[in-house]
Amino acid sequence: MNVFASQALLAVAMAAMTAGIGVHAADEPTVEPGAEVTATPAPPPAKPINVKTMFAMNCSWCHDGYGLHAGKGPKLAGTQMTAAQVYLRIAKGKSGMMPGFEKTLSKDQIDAFVAYIKGLKDPDS
Ligand code: HEC
Repeated sequence: MNVFASQALLAVAMAAMTAGIGVHAADEPTVEPGAEVTATPAPPPAKPINVKTMFAMNCSWCHDGYGLHAGKGPKLAGTQMTAAQVYLRIAKGKSGMMPGFEKTLSKDQIDAFVAYIKGLKDPDS
């Protein structure tokens, strides 16, 4: 960028800042450092994680019947894996067989899958 262009940008930025001050300075509430701000509304509760929806989006093309039946991947109900092993499998996947999900799912979401899978009742036993 040449000098004139950057000066022009600077001028625009300054104008914007000045305009902003003119509009807001008067009615901006001043909050003392450390003072409790009571006007701020509480954040909305975290969106509940819907495991079945997530399963349909991420797992159903290999694990049939929401994990109750074998498909391209094995049946998940009644898995011999521990919760920690299930977590790792979902996070890391298995080379050549199952993709890892640690980049696309949050820890909470993977935890929800672990709880869901470990809670499945094996329909064949
Ligand atoms: C591309 C197909 C594919 C997708 C998508 C997939 N899986 Fe798998 N999954 C597999 C295969 C294949 C295996 C068996 C690997 C083996 O033989 O060890 C497996 C194994 C597993 C196991 C271990 C079961 C056991 O007892 O050995 C779990 C748990 C699991 N998957 C969960 C999931 C979850 C949860 C998702 C979605 C977030 C998912 N998988 C998505 C193919 C897939």
